[in-house]
Amino acid sequence: MIQTDRIVIVGAGLAALYAALELAPRPVLMVSPEALGEGASSAWAQGGVAAAMADSDSPEAHAADTVRAGAGTVDKDVAAMVTRVAREHILDLTTLGTPFDRDADGGYVMSREAAHSAPRVVRVQGDQAGKQIMETLIAALRATPSVQVLEGALATGLETEDGRVTGVWLRSATRQTGDVLVTTPAVLLAGGGSGGLYAHTTNPPRIRGQVIGMAARAGAVMGDPEFVQFHPTAFDIGEDPAPLATEALRGEGAVLINSDGKRFMLDVHPDAELAPRDIVARAIFAETQAGRRPMLDTRAALGAEVLTAFPAVAETCARAGIDPVADPIPVAVAAHYHMGGVAADDHGRSSLKGLWVAGEASSTGLHGANRLASNGLLEALVYARNAGQDIAETVPFADATEVSLTFPECGAAPDPAAVAELRQTMTAHVGVRRTGQGLKTALRTIARLETEHAADPIFRNMTATATLIAAAALAREESRGGHYRDDFPNPTPDLAHRTRMTLSEAMVLRESVLNEAP
Ligand code: SIN
Repeated sequence: MIQTDRIVIVGAGLAALYAALELAPRPVLMVSPEALGEGASSAWAQGGVAAAMADSDSPEAHAADTVRAGAGTVDKDVAAMVTRVAREHILDLTTLGTPFDRDADGGYVMSREAAHSAPRVVRVQGDQAGKQIMETLIAALRATPSVQVLEGALATGLETEDGRVTGVWLRSATRQTGDVLVTTPAVLLAGGGSGGLYAHTTNPPRIRGQVIGMAARAGAVMGDPEFVQFHPTAFDIGEDPAPLATEALRGEGAVLINSDGKRFMLDVHPDAELAPRDIVARAIFAETQAGRRPMLDTRAALGAEVLTAFPAVAETCARAGIDPVADPIPVAVAAHYHMGGVAADDHGRSSLKGLWVAGEASSTGLHGANRLASNGLLEALVYARNAGQDIAETVPFADATEVSLTFPECGAAPDPAAVAELRQTMTAHVGVRRTGQGLKTALRTIARLETEHAADPIFRNMTATATLIAAAALAREESRGGHYRDDFPNPTPDLAHRTRMTLSEAMVLRESVLNEAP
């Protein structure tokens, strides 16, 4: 066991970096499984950050769009607070050096994305926002001596004492080792969401619900675990993870067609390709299921400009042998963002003392049942700062020397076959369209896999999150936003509220399914 007075930040994406900078000069230990900038979902974000920067726009309009997209379960006060401070965060990122796209008058260039009533997404070089913001923050962090970055380490669990988080169990992310307990006055979880729990995902390989799962196993209350967002336009080119074709392409006029050449969204929603993301995702899924391969057609809207204006999309096309100037891009839905996570208040506090959370691992009430595009990075910025300030105000400052860790040479990595079965199960039964029977099948499989791998804390973190998603989805007998039940296809007004659930409560539900006659 190692004791430190450093604040431990689990994760190294945008929320983690921003919080560490906010906490400076307070000593921080940042746990980053990969080299900084690699392995975090934030660096893969293509769209940008939603913020009402134009004179013709307002935080109130942004909040109204957020509430509308969220399908009845957005916390309106949270939406008002986050959209109100969005501008100051964009200005701060600009001051730090983020090279946002500018027009000839120096104004921010805004992308349009689905369900926004105005172009409102500040961007960098078309689809490079996540990468460039991360590079800016990493440069700032490297110049901040109070932050010790522990690269190549990952968290496997939280230590608690009388309902308070007192430490984090860490192990090597690059070798098979045992765990070391690092005790600390405060832990900030900022280690991403759960998309990789699904076989089809846009998330980096390590983002598999582990951080949410470790908080759940420590007893933290979860918010909205059933609400998972599926992105409509992941490249369908057989890659895992599936590369993203940003929604901003549709904002520029790209259309969705199927293998019959039909523009199918026209029959689905008045906003066609710019309908809320859950609606477009279900329509794409239906085309795939019907064997009419859906494709994103950028030809008329962008022509050869797609190659220069969207470098990440162009690079993926080149790798896959697709010429988007001549041919449409095959797409499929993929798990993209978890609206649910560790329930957090406005200060990023979880229900456990000593534990804060920010970014996709959290559930703040901003996203409701369907996140408005590019509100994810915004939420990460706002809550990272709020949490950093709250920790600074409530945890006494103490100097701390660098932490030096030696991991015991023992232990095993999660069984790849078990992880693959878990991911297939989530995609098959807890995905875009769900049924009570399918969710029960999923809960039985998750329970069996968990029993077979009970000694592996990393796998148990994954099964904890998978259990929460499936159990909350089973309990919500209606359809709302990203949660669609074939057996309850309509929203139920009485259920227009957020879910709060502990892992123990989810386990009771899972047990009741196991006890049912087959
Ligand atoms: C995209 O660029 O389509 C993704 C934006 C987001 O997920 O917010």
